[in-house]
Amino acid sequence: MPERKTVLVTGGSGFIGANLVRRLIQNYRVVNLDRLTYAANPLSLADLDTHPAYEFVHASIADRERVSALLTRTQPDAILHLAAESHVDRSIEDAEDFIQTNVVGTYVLLEAARGYWNNLPQGRKADFRFLHVSTDEVFGSLGANGYFSETTPYAPNSPYSASKASSDHFVRAYHHTHGLPTVITNCSNNYGPYQFPEKMIPLMILNAISGKTLPVYGQGTNVRDWIYVEDHCRALQLAFEKGIAGETYVFGADTEQVNLDLVHKICALLDEIAPVDENPLTRGRGLNTYAGLIRFVTDRPGHDQRYAIDSAKARRELGWSPREDFESGLRKTVEWYLSNPKWVAQASGGAYSEWMQKNYAWRAHKEAK
Ligand code: NAD
Ligand code: DAU
Repeated sequence: MPERKTVLVTGGSGFIGANLVRRLIQNYRVVNLDRLTYAANPLSLADLDTHPAYEFVHASIADRERVSALLTRTQPDAILHLAAESHVDRSIEDAEDFIQTNVVGTYVLLEAARGYWNNLPQGRKADFRFLHVSTDEVFGSLGANGYFSETTPYAPNSPYSASKASSDHFVRAYHHTHGLPTVITNCSNNYGPYQFPEKMIPLMILNAISGKTLPVYGQGTNVRDWIYVEDHCRALQLAFEKGIAGETYVFGADTEQVNLDLVHKICALLDEIAPVDENPLTRGRGLNTYAGLIRFVTDRPGHDQRYAIDSAKARRELGWSPREDFESGLRKTVEWYLSNPKWVAQASGGAYSEWMQKNYAWRAHKEAK
C-alpha cells in the first residue's frame, strides 16, 4: 500500500464517526478510538475489520495512559475528535456522563495530544491538526430571524450543549495558551445512515414502520437546520486538511424544517414505500396514513426553538458547499433504515429499550395532550 497519512478518529463507531471513517479510509490510515457506549454500533464498520489501513481501539478518551500510548504508537498526523455523549434528552435526565466524556474526556485528550505534539519534529508539528467536532447548540436558540455564525456568542441551554461549549472553550484555550494547532467546527442537525434511533429522524421512521406512536414534542413548531451526514463529513475533511489553526468553521445546509412538517414528510415517504394497508404492523387499525400515528407529547424542558446556520465562511475559505438535496437525502435515509434490519435490531435491542422505558417519564409518550 502506498504511504498514507494517519488520522486518529475518536467516536468513530458512532453516527457521524462511522460515516467519516468510511470516507477517510479511502485515502488515510484510520485509527478509531471508541469506548463503544450504547450509541456505538459495531455493525456500522464491521466490513472494515480486515481492511489493512483500519485499526479499531476499544478505549475511553478519558484514559490518559491508553491515549498517550496510542498516540506514541500510531503517530497520527491529525486527531479528529468526535467522541461524545450526544443526546440532549439524556443530558436532561442525567448530565454526569456528559461532563465525564465531553468535558473531562476532551481535557484528557487535549493533554495527551499536547504531550505528543510537543515532541513532533518541526515540519510535522506545524502540519498537525486537532479537529474538535462540535455543535451549533452551543449558540443557544434563535427567534424567527437570524443565523448562527462563527461570531455568535455562546449561550448553551441544555446540559448537553453546556458540556460541548465547555469542551470548545478548552480546545480554544489550548490553542491560545499552548499553541496546539486546533480547529473547531460547529454543525447543525445531521441525518442519514447509521444514526442511533433515539434521534428524531430514525426514531420517527422506525416507530412508524413498527406501528408505534410518533411523539412530537410540544406543538411541533421547533425548527432544525438539517444537513446530510456525508456533506458534514466532507466539510470535516476539508476543515482538518485546509482549516487554519485556531479558527472555527460553522456548517449548515440551509435546510430549515419545522419539526411537524418533517414528521409529515417522513410519513408521506413511508406511505409511498410501505403503505399502511400492506404493513402487518399497521394494517386493520383504521389508519389511512402513518401520519395517523402522530401524537403531541409533553415538550422537552428548555427546548431550543430554532437553529439555523450561516456557513459563508466555510464556503469561502474551505471551498465547501453541501451537495445533497433534502428531499432526496431524506428518501435515501428512509430507504436505508428499511433495508438494514440487522443494524436496526442491534441498535434498538436490550439496553436501549430498557433505558427508554425507565427514563422517559417527562416525555409521557402515552398521555397525548
Ligand atoms: P453518537 O452518539 O452517534 O456517537 C458518539 C460516539 O462516541 C459513540 O461511538 C460512542 O461509543 C463514542 N464515545 C462516547 N464516549 C466515549 C469515550 N469516553 N471515549 C471514546 N468514545 C466514546 O454521536 P454523533 O451524532 O455521531 O456525534 C458525533 C460528534 O458530533 C459529537 O461530538 C457531537 O456533539 C457532534 N455533533 C453531532 C451532530 C448531530 O446532529 N448528530 C451535529 C453537530 C455536532
Ligand atoms: O444541532 C445539532 C445537534 O442536533 C447535535 O449537537 C446533537 O448531538 C443532536 O442530537 C441534535 O440535537 P437535537 O436535540 O436537535 O436532535 P433530536 O433528534 O433529539 O431532536 C430534533 C428535534 O425533534 C428537536 O426539536 C426535538 C424534536 N423531537 C425529538 C425527538 C427525539 C421530537 O419532537 N420528538 C422526539 O421523539
